[in-house]
Amino acid sequence: MFSQEIDKKIKQISLIVLTVGGIAFLIGYFGLHNRVTDVGYRPTQPVPFSHKLHAGDMGVKCMYCHTSVEKSAHSPVPSTSTCMNCHIAIKTDSPKLKMVRDSYENNTPIEWKRIHALPDYVHFDHSRHIRSQIDCASCHGKVETMGVVSQFKPMNMGFCLDCHRNPEANIIPARPISGIFTGIKASAYDSNAKAVLAKVEPMTHPQFGGFMSEVPKQEVEGIPTPKHPGYGPENCSTCHH
Ligand code: HEC
Ligand code: HEC
Ligand code: HEC
Ligand code: HEC
Ligand code: HEC
Repeated sequence: MFSQEIDKKIKQISLIVLTVGGIAFLIGYFGLHNRVTDVGYRPTQPVPFSHKLHAGDMGVKCMYCHTSVEKSAHSPVPSTSTCMNCHIAIKTDSPKLKMVRDSYENNTPIEWKRIHALPDYVHFDHSRHIRSQIDCASCHGKVETMGVVSQFKPMNMGFCLDCHRNPEANIIPARPISGIFTGIKASAYDSNAKAVLAKVEPMTHPQFGGFMSEVPKQEVEGIPTPKHPGYGPENCSTCHH
């Protein structure tokens, strides 16, 4: 149809178009791709840690490792010493745990890759949500079934507001696996509030999975009696300031 010369030009032009298009796609994908809304985002972690094994199969509560969610805005991943509570004695020569042992011996943190991250201009505080007994799964999905954690919901403004406007439809109430403090055992109820705190037996929040030791009193006292959540705020300045 075309002369060889034109045929060659067409091929060259197609090649250039494909290359430029490909580069533009890669820049678009990796450069501009919004991490916040990135459902399914699943970076490769330095240690092949499995939530399914530890939380799902073994029943270790979320709060055992993510200790600060109840009290502070942030819920950082656990430090190596939390892992070594068990791994000082368990699977001590596993190559999969070499980095954990090295981190412990050299006192250097493991560089876990962050999965969820909101932009800096948004104020999010775990503690208010946790103290209202909102289960982790409401926002993170059933992490105890995940071999590798991945983002479960798009963490955009609509995600926050959907629940703030319509909590009943979006809140999964605290489940035992989360270890969220949900109150004092019914039998411990007493007309005297001080007496209740003195013999407090929390419903959840145990070590590992069983009620192995009592929760320190001030920890219970420091956390107001859980209340059932009302509506979340919709006021711009509560999330942006
Ligand atoms: C034995 C300790 C341990 C337990 C128990 C545990 N986690 Fe984790 N969690 C980790 C570690 C370590 C990481 C970082 C590595 C990873 O992402 O897998 C992590 C990461 C996460 C992340 C992702 C953090 C990010 O970067 O955005 C979420 C969400 C999370 N855990 C929720 C939970 C929930 C919900 C439970 C209970 C069902 C739970 N975890 C139980 C140790 C634990
Ligand atoms: C409550 C005790 C406990 C804690 C805390 C714990 N682990 Fe484990 N972990 C275990 C047990 C038990 C196994 C082995 C299960 C089995 O027999 O396969 C295991 C297995 C593993 C394995 C697989 C090892 C292999 O060779 O298959 C890795 C990796 C691991 N844990 C990482 C971690 C990390 C990282 C932390 C801290 C964030 C942690 N673990 C905290 C009890 C624990
Ligand atoms: C109301 C929704 C909501 C609930 C409930 C919730 N989270 Fe989160 N979580 C988030 C959001 C949003 C982020 C990202 C926060 C940011 O970037 O500042 C996050 C981040 C995290 C991180 C990573 C934070 C970091 O600093 O690396 C971990 C770990 C985590 N959550 C664990 C938990 C656990 C465990 C529970 C339950 C005890 C829980 N979350 C309950 C919404 C929630
Ligand atoms: C599953 C439901 C749910 C989701 C999702 C949710 N919230 Fe909330 N949030 C609530 C409820 C309920 C309250 C009111 C709690 C109370 O009554 O103490 C609340 C309270 C708050 C407050 C006021 C308390 C404080 O810490 O100052 C802020 C701010 C807030 N949420 C931010 C966010 C942001 C940002 C997101 C999204 C990243 C989000 N929330 C996602 C249910 C949710
Ligand atoms: C419950 C928390 C919450 C409230 C209330 C809230 N926002 Fe946001 N807003 C967010 C979150 C989370 C993001 C991050 C969205 C993203 O990066 O995808 C955001 C992002 C934004 C952005 C950046 C553009 C975008 O959509 O990504 C603007 C502008 C904004 N909000 C304005 C407002 C205004 C105006 C109000 C009051 C009418 C408001 N927000 C109320 C949580 C909130």
